[in-house]
Amino acid sequence: MSINAKKKIVIGNWKMNLTVPESIILSERIEKEMASYKYTDVVVCPSFLSIYPVSSILKDSPIKIGAQNLFYEEKGNFTGETSPSQLRGFADYVIIGHSERRIFLGERDKDIAKKVKTAVTFGFTPIVCFGETLQERGDGLGKVVVTSQLEAVLGLLTANEVANVIVVYEPVWAISPSDRVCAPKDAVYIIEALRNLTGALYGKDMAEKMRFIYGGSVDDKNAKEFLKERLIEGFLVGGASMDHNGFLSIIRDVEKSASRSSKNIPGK
Ligand code: PGA
Repeated sequence: MSINAKKKIVIGNWKMNLTVPESIILSERIEKEMASYKYTDVVVCPSFLSIYPVSSILKDSPIKIGAQNLFYEEKGNFTGETSPSQLRGFADYVIIGHSERRIFLGERDKDIAKKVKTAVTFGFTPIVCFGETLQERGDGLGKVVVTSQLEAVLGLLTANEVANVIVVYEPVWAISPSDRVCAPKDAVYIIEALRNLTGALYGKDMAEKMRFIYGGSVDDKNAKEFLKERLIEGFLVGGASMDHNGFLSIIRDVEKSASRSSKNIPGK
């Protein structure tokens, strides 16, 4: 499959920011103005408590629901965790290994690897995050850190399972409220390394089928710059996804760029 023949994707990560009533209002606003897009998938990831009401508001829309985490066991005595079978029917996607969970909650590569395997086994599309800290970048270790995270985290998957994974490059130092921005060229440098490693581990064809996206302070002002890069196939958007106008504008930009790329496919 040509890279341009794939659908792009925009994922809104609301993190721990909105109350249930606020999540309902935001999802109603997005739903009202959301068009159906040919080349772009759209996902919103509310907090667990809001998943149920938001999923009923969005059930007839093209917008899919993602969770922000899941546990790797199916049931049992795991206080405070949410299992894949509890989530099934309410979400299709799940963010796994976000740097905020690595940093503040001590998630390790081996925990993330188990969660990714569980997500795939239960039919979710995992949105798996990789990124280096400012210190690691300063030490010239960005590429090494990110590629070793990928190798550790996807290691439990078979080639068929990996096809469905969405790989997100999210430099920790560029996530809001950071005022540092990642230049699109720098994002592409790492995304290319992640693609190449995936290709080496699972075959080039498999890497071609997967989507590699960027996250870190993406908004309706800078999205177009990132979209000039062919290897950036969508966004994980945090802060800017909670402003419905801004979020919809990013989706429209992605759709325009994807539609242009699709016209370049020979024979299409
Ligand atoms: P941001 O967050 O867009 O607010 O930087 C992205 C993320 O961490 O998912």
